Amino acid sequence: MNPAAQRGVARLLAHQAASGAFPACPTFSQYPYAWLRDSTFIAYALDRSGEQQSAARYYRWVSGVVADLEGQVDRLITARRQGERISETQFLPTRFSLTGEKLQDDWPNFQLDGYGQWLWGLGQHLTLSGTQGLPDPYRRGAEVTLRYLQQFWQEPCFDCWEEFPYRWHTSTLASIFAGVQAMAPYFPAYEPLGEQIRTFINTQTITEGRLSKFIGYPVVDASLLWTAVPFGVFGVDDPVFQATLAQIERELLRDGVHRYSHDTYYGGGSWVLLTAWLGWVYARLGRREEALDLSDWVRAQENEDGLPEQTQHVLLSPPYLASWTERWGPPAAPLLWSQAMQIVLEQELHPAPMQAGTQ
Ligand code: BGC
Repeated sequence: MNPAAQRGVARLLAHQAASGAFPACPTFSQYPYAWLRDSTFIAYALDRSGEQQSAARYYRWVSGVVADLEGQVDRLITARRQGERISETQFLPTRFSLTGEKLQDDWPNFQLDGYGQWLWGLGQHLTLSGTQGLPDPYRRGAEVTLRYLQQFWQEPCFDCWEEFPYRWHTSTLASIFAGVQAMAPYFPAYEPLGEQIRTFINTQTITEGRLSKFIGYPVVDASLLWTAVPFGVFGVDDPVFQATLAQIERELLRDGVHRYSHDTYYGGGSWVLLTAWLGWVYARLGRREEALDLSDWVRAQENEDGLPEQTQHVLLSPPYLASWTERWGPPAAPLLWSQAMQIVLEQELHPAPMQAGTQ
């Protein structure tokens, strides 16, 4: 494994809690918790690096946590079927304490993407660890999640950046699609749901040949990269994905990759994890030189603590940097999800023989 990936793996392992969970950032005041989204990509990076035992501890943890929410899921499904009003705060949370408790705060919790992503990650884990079938410890958590997603996948929610509530977000839909599809071999009854979501994405989220950040808002967001890599709603060569990618490159690749053009969070800097993601897409497209350039850029952002969430060399909304810094201190670092995406890119560019050809 190359040294950057090796350092990254050591950092991820060092921060895994006894429960199996991973904090988003151990030092940033707002991020000492486990987000399904961040943690799944952390586990995926570990799976791709031969650290399946550590990934298995994460999936056992998350399966148990979600299985314990079964009563809440049943109540939500009954409430919906009886036509009762459900408030946003009644849905399942986006993040947990490292011991699996729900947090009592006013975080914008209703985000569905992580529930799709952890199922997708579990599918990857089973493949990369050569596990046959779906072992019991994962079964109930996966089944509860599928039931929840089947009932609520079309519910408008916050996006993967925890913003823009009450919208249908393309990358959220793609995440749910991938999770449902990954579990279909073990729960064949859910296969049609995957196809239903794919059709919805194809018919509702494309405007003028490009994917929209959310339905009715034809603007790109770098999370649209996920629709092809790794979630496979589109092939990397698909004209819709190609047109979306070209727009992301034009608008959001400035220094590193930004989230979307009106981003104000910490001034709207370049996100390390998204820059690595674009490198991953380039690698899949055979655009190796550009992927290597981005991996160099990512490496250059590392300091002794690791990789930050974002860098402030080019800001899309400079006046906002000071207010966020006053509120929460400097941007999160090390962000374990950034570290994870660097590992994925490095593995993609310099695969160890056992990883060749894996997704
Ligand atoms: C990001 C989320 C992320 C969370 C924890 C937020 O600022 O927008 O995508 O899951 O931080 O890293």
